[in-house]
Amino acid sequence: MSVDAERTIIVALDFADGREALAFADQLRGTGCAVKVGKELFTREGPAICRALHERGLRVFLDLKFHDIPNTVAAACRAAADLGVWMVNVHASGGREMLEAARAALGDGPARPLLVAVTVLTSLDAVQLNEVGVAASPAAQVVRLAQLAAAAGLDGVVCSPQEIVLVKAACGAGFLTVTPGVRPAGSAQDDQQRIATPAAARAAGGDYLVIGRPITRAAEPRLALGAIAAEIAAAPAV
Ligand code: C5P
Repeated sequence: MSVDAERTIIVALDFADGREALAFADQLRGTGCAVKVGKELFTREGPAICRALHERGLRVFLDLKFHDIPNTVAAACRAAADLGVWMVNVHASGGREMLEAARAALGDGPARPLLVAVTVLTSLDAVQLNEVGVAASPAAQVVRLAQLAAAAGLDGVVCSPQEIVLVKAACGAGFLTVTPGVRPAGSAQDDQQRIATPAAARAAGGDYLVIGRPITRAAEPRLALGAIAAEIAAAPAV
């Protein structure tokens, strides 16, 4: 099992309640992967779910996509840092001041959370973007917001596998990309539209891959995780 490759995998804990999520997380103990806590699980269970995951030795990506005035987002980021999460995110469309305030709130300590930005929600197409007043194409808007996030000192963005190359070209290889929509060859596409295999996402330069159902719904989650890690480890280096 490749622990380095496992460390690039973030398992989406999309469970309805904490009991189910923790029963599943118990199966991930001792692996290198991180876990993602989103709005549903956090709203049901609160910060206690993050503490329980930390007790299991798991790094937590708190996926709450903060978007508010700078002071409020900065305070929320500070609260996430106090909770000890490994990664937290905000909406890049909150603007430069909000992004800078979020980044400043996390400080520069060695254990500060990574801060990544959502650019354009992948559920928005060109028509819907236009309806909210954005004339640019989704891809152009992603690049614009990624550059804004990079200029504000953020660590990276959440983006689809198809956008990794664009983001890296615009913001530099060191700017992190966190990528959902990853499906091992032969697994169910579910409701994902623009998918890539783990190997293709890594080969494009993807740093972290968010993977839910191919692992959480597998009969043998640890085996599924191990197989994906092996595929990543065998992907060509970028
Ligand atoms: O089960 P699956 O692998 O599709 O889970 C992907 C995770 O990434 C889910 O938590 C989903 O909400 C999240 N996500 C996504 N697409 C985005 C942003 C987040 O699938 N554009």
